[in-house]
Amino acid sequence: MSNRIYIFDTTLRDGEQSPGCSMNFDEKIRMARQLERLQVDVIEAGFPIASEGDFESVKEIAKQIRHCSIAGLSRATKTDIDRAWEALKHAAKPRIHTFIATSDIHLKFKLKKTHEQVLEDAIKAVRYAKSLCHDVEFSCEDASRSDIDYLCQIVEAVIAEGATVVNIPDTVGYAIPNEYGSIIKSLMDRVPNIDKAMLSVHCHNDLGMAVANSLAGVLNGARQVECTVNGIGERAGNASLEEIAMAVRTRSEAMNVTTNINTDEIYKSSKLLVSLTGMHIQRNKAIVGDNAFAHEAGIHQDGMLKNAITYEIMTPQSVGIKHSTLVLGKHSGRHALKQRYAELGYNLSHEEIEKAYTVFTKIADEKKQIFDDDLVAILQDEISAMNETYKLETFQVTSGLNLVPTATVGLKKGSEFFQDSATGDGPVDAAYRAIERITGISVELLDYSIKSVAWGRDAIGEVFVKIAIDGYVFNGRSASTDVITGSVKAYLNAINHAVGARYRKEKESLVRNEAQAV
Ligand code: KIV
Ligand code: ZN
Repeated sequence: MSNRIYIFDTTLRDGEQSPGCSMNFDEKIRMARQLERLQVDVIEAGFPIASEGDFESVKEIAKQIRHCSIAGLSRATKTDIDRAWEALKHAAKPRIHTFIATSDIHLKFKLKKTHEQVLEDAIKAVRYAKSLCHDVEFSCEDASRSDIDYLCQIVEAVIAEGATVVNIPDTVGYAIPNEYGSIIKSLMDRVPNIDKAMLSVHCHNDLGMAVANSLAGVLNGARQVECTVNGIGERAGNASLEEIAMAVRTRSEAMNVTTNINTDEIYKSSKLLVSLTGMHIQRNKAIVGDNAFAHEAGIHQDGMLKNAITYEIMTPQSVGIKHSTLVLGKHSGRHALKQRYAELGYNLSHEEIEKAYTVFTKIADEKKQIFDDDLVAILQDEISAMNETYKLETFQVTSGLNLVPTATVGLKKGSEFFQDSATGDGPVDAAYRAIERITGISVELLDYSIKSVAWGRDAIGEVFVKIAIDGYVFNGRSASTDVITGSVKAYLNAINHAVGARYRKEKESLVRNEAQAV
C-alpha cells in the first residue's frame, strides 16, 4: 500500500457553510488560489445546488485552478449531480462528490427510508455520477454511527459502481480514535473490492478528536484525509489541515506516511482565511496560533537558547512563520518595503507597492515599530481598496459622557463627493448610520470585532465586520492605528463587497439577456 496521503481540503464547502465563515465570490477564488499554492490534492469548492453563488464560485474555481482536483458536493439525486457536474465540467481534474446518510438514526428520523432504499439510491447516484465524470467520491454520512455490516455492504456496492474514493465521515464528531480506527480497519479487511478505491476520513471536532480520529483512520489504511484550514467547519469544526500535515511531517517515523503539502504556505493560508472571514483562531491554537512558537517560561527560554530542540518539535519557519521582528521604520524606503514583502511571499506590482508605501509612511509616522503582521494587514487593506466603489474621504466624530455621539462622513463615488451626518449609540454606530444615509443601502450589522495585529499601545487594530443586505452576508475588514477609522473603513469595505456583488449579478444577467437575444 502506498504511503502517500491525499489531502482533500473542504474549507470552501464544509468550512464555508458554518456560521461566521461565509465568503463572497472573489474571496473564495483568492482562498482557492492559496490552497493551490499550499498544494492540497483536492479542493472541495462548494455545494453547487445549494445556491447560485455556490454554483458560480465552484464553476470559476474549476476553470481557474489547474493543479488540484476540484470537487463539488451533491446529494444522491440526479438533479444534484447534474448541477454539480455543470459547475465542475471545465475543471482539469473534476470530481463529483455524492453522499447519503447510512446510520439507522438518519435513516429513521431524517430520510425515512430502509437500508435497501438507501443502498439503491447510493448505487444509482454513483452509477449516474460515473457516467459523467471519471472521478467519483461517495460519502456515507454519519458512517461512524452506522451498522458496520451495512457499511461494508454499501461500500462494496459503490466501489462496484466505480466510486474512486469512499469517505467514512464521523459527521457528528462522536467517535474516539481506537473505535474510528477499527471502523476503517474492518472496511479494509472485510470489503472484497477495497483495493479498487481509496478510503477517506472526514472527522468533525465535537469532542475535540477530529485530528486524532483522522490519524487513527490513516494508521488503519485510509489514504485521503478531509480537513479545513484552521479547522473551520460545522459546529466545533473539521479536522485542521495544518495539524494533520504537521503531525504527519513531524512524526513521520510513527505515521510512516507523507503528504504533498507545501508546509511553507501553512501560516499564510491560515492568515488569509482569518482575514477573509473574520473568524479568529485562539492564541494557543496548534501550529498557527500566536503562541504556538512562543516560549515564555524562563526555564524554557534557557533551554531554547542552549538548543532549540529542547522545547521545539518543529520550527516556525517550517510552517512559513518568518520571525516577526522589528523590520522597518519611517526612514525605510520603497525598495526595503518591496524586498520585505517579497521575503514575506508577496511579489508586488509597481502600483501595489506605491499604494502600500503611501499607507506605510503614514503608519510609520504614528507607530515607531512596524512588524511583519502590520505589513500584511496594510497590504490586505490596499488590495481590497483597489476595487472599491465608495471611498472614504473624510469623517469626524464627536462623542463623550452625556453627549449624543455624532458623525459626519464624506464618501467619494467616482468623481462625485457625498457627505452626511447622523447620531447613534456610539461614534461607530453614528458613522455607520451616516454611511447608510449616503449610500441608501439598508444594512444589518451581524458581527463586529477588533483585534490588535502586533504589539504595543500603538498596535494596528484590525477590524472585522459582517453585514447582511437583502438577506445576503458580506464581510469587511480594515486595519488602522485608529480603531474608529478602522471600524468605518471595515464597514465600507463590506458595503463595497455588496455593491460589487450586485454589479456582477447585473452584468451576468445582461450577458444572459444578450445571449438569449442572439
Ligand atoms: O460531515 C459529513 O458527513 C459531511 C459529508 C457531506 C461528507 O460533510
Ligand atoms: Zn462534514
